[in-house]
Amino acid sequence: MNMDMNYFINLLKEVFMIKYDETKRVFHLTNGSISYYIYVNSVGVLETLYFGEHLEDIGEVAGIAGANIDNCSTQYFDKKEGVEKSFDDNYKATYARKEVSSHALIDKRGAPIIIEKKNGSYETDFRFSSYKIIDGVPSLKTLPSIRNADGSTLEVTLKDVNYDVELIYRISILDKNDIIIKNFEIINHEKDDITIKRAYSMELDLPSCHYDFTHFRGRWSKERDKKTNEVMDGYQAVSSNYGRSSHEENPFVYLENKDNNEVIGFNLIYSSNFTFSLFSDYMGGLRVLYGINDEDFSWKLKTDESFETPQAVISYSYQGVDKMSQNFHKVIKENIIGYKKEKEYKPILFNSWEGCYMDFDTEKILSFVDASKKIGAELFVLDDGWFSNRDTDYTGLGDWWINEKKIDLQKVIDQCHKNKMKFGIWYEPEMVNPGTELFKKHPEYALGNYQDKMIISRHQFHLDFTSDEVIENIFNQMVDVLDKYAVDYVKWDYNRVVYEHMSTFLSNEEQGRVYHLLALGYYKLLDKLTKKYPDIMFEGCASGGGRFDLGTLYYCPQIWCSDESDPVQRFFIQYNTSLGYPLSTIGSHANNNNLTSYKIKAELALFGTYGYEMNPKLLTEDEINELNEVADVYKKYHKEVIEEGTLYHLCDPNKSNYMSMMAVSSNKNTAIVFFTNLLKELDQYRFLKLKGLDPNKYYRNNLDSRVYSGDYYMKIGLNLSRFWLWEFNSKLIILNAI
Ligand code: DGJ
Repeated sequence: MNMDMNYFINLLKEVFMIKYDETKRVFHLTNGSISYYIYVNSVGVLETLYFGEHLEDIGEVAGIAGANIDNCSTQYFDKKEGVEKSFDDNYKATYARKEVSSHALIDKRGAPIIIEKKNGSYETDFRFSSYKIIDGVPSLKTLPSIRNADGSTLEVTLKDVNYDVELIYRISILDKNDIIIKNFEIINHEKDDITIKRAYSMELDLPSCHYDFTHFRGRWSKERDKKTNEVMDGYQAVSSNYGRSSHEENPFVYLENKDNNEVIGFNLIYSSNFTFSLFSDYMGGLRVLYGINDEDFSWKLKTDESFETPQAVISYSYQGVDKMSQNFHKVIKENIIGYKKEKEYKPILFNSWEGCYMDFDTEKILSFVDASKKIGAELFVLDDGWFSNRDTDYTGLGDWWINEKKIDLQKVIDQCHKNKMKFGIWYEPEMVNPGTELFKKHPEYALGNYQDKMIISRHQFHLDFTSDEVIENIFNQMVDVLDKYAVDYVKWDYNRVVYEHMSTFLSNEEQGRVYHLLALGYYKLLDKLTKKYPDIMFEGCASGGGRFDLGTLYYCPQIWCSDESDPVQRFFIQYNTSLGYPLSTIGSHANNNNLTSYKIKAELALFGTYGYEMNPKLLTEDEINELNEVADVYKKYHKEVIEEGTLYHLCDPNKSNYMSMMAVSSNKNTAIVFFTNLLKELDQYRFLKLKGLDPNKYYRNNLDSRVYSGDYYMKIGLNLSRFWLWEFNSKLIILNAI
């Protein structure tokens, strides 16, 4: 290599923020704010030296690397000489921090990759072979992944010591966001097939287990219930095996260091089964593994075939939970959501579901369109019930033709346009009801059809999206409607989980692929439709928020957050969801639950996508006025402050009697604060300290119309003590810089 070439390469490394010190055999990934150091030890095992706030110089590697821990040496028996010896490297050190642990060797803390070979061995032992530094974050071939990212990627090729199997390990860092992205690709070069038993996306070995672990479990109508516990001794895991990311556990989780402000958040760009596991070892270290759930998973690779894992997204903060959340918000908005019109103003949505369910005709819907216009709606969505003979949830799914006896779709669209409103429609593409034309003609399209007693849930079967034929059938049916009518929005629902993970399109030995192929099928159809109709906004939904995840957000810029209409429950659901996902993605509507006034429900909905879901004809004049007041705030401020601004969590309802969040526009000129009581607090001495304002700017607030500095608001706070707040009373406060 000549001098010029070296100069050029060094220059590139500088630009790419990833450096390799060949003498020390150390990689340093940094964006100036955080650092990640990896050591290629003398036998080619990748050891984790450091992950944390930026560290310019890692110093003496010997002091940190696990391979240098003297008492970790491992013995072997030399059969030729008939004596016991020590391995001359200590690579098998049980407690070393590694990037990719071996499996079935000495380290028993769990490995990210498990592969069965022809000889029956499950052992893997991947060692460094070569590396590349890549500008940006390479897209995955089969899965949704980070896009348009300014960042750099270290791609290390590892080779198994005993088998001709290659592992590509990618770790990326973003330039202007404290985000690390990891994934693996397994390539089989053996002449025989290999079977992947586990293909996780990442391993992270932390030097301490002194963390609290927060995860978001739940059920239908109680999604993302925040649970925080100490990291347990030994093994613990949260997971989904429902065939969707699920109500039961969300793929967003985080670890909060008990000794300082370090918070590490994790998520997966994936919509199906996952396992996030922690193993706190006897020496006080913590192994984090994350990826596709290996329960019922097995994937055969023929010679030269490869398998790529979803990307794991890690958000690092040394400034507490809010910074971890903000990193996620930024990466989701800038590098995951792909909707063409994401940067444009989003119309206020009215959804017909809770106002009339499937009980409607053209006249009723026309009257809803007119009435919703009066509360500021700009997009009318006709939910479930418009197709085939769908008057109850026993029928219709899979037969996606308009029920012309029930609804004149063109008339509804014309009425929307007359009112200067857009029009949207509901689908549940991955399902079929028995009794439909589709099921009668193609019973084999339903999962579970191999047996006499097929499991039914919400009276429907899950379509076999492992098959392109099935996907194509649904695609063509959807195109028939979407090509003919002016549709601006599609709500994509998903109301059951996968039970029978058996496909009649696959051979017996391929059944371990079903869950993953179903996820790929979901993405395939979304991909085809979003490419064909780039102007249509697709909103994700799964019986409320049962598929609230990064894979869905890649195609759907917003996801219906929950079917829970009790606004108090929603305080929790929305607050908790916003810890991992931006407000712009959290589908939220003011609805007709009578627990609180429309004003409070609308103010809460404002801290989400904002919309309505009720019988609009039953609203009183006062209620119409209340809703219009909030709609005006939406139109004036939502885009700039709530969608594009920065979110701060002020009071956690999981810990106190209050829930409060605020959003600040990026120029720090405007802020919106939402504060609510859960139980009544009449004359509490209470100042609400704000966050994220410019300390040197002066802001007028619309609570007492006074002007204070940003510094004042952040150090003394907004004086709420003069307000009697009853149960579930709230305040929406707007601050404008003067
Ligand atoms: C479940 C969704 O969460 C609801 O909003 C509604 O669309 C129904 N499905 C329709 O069946």
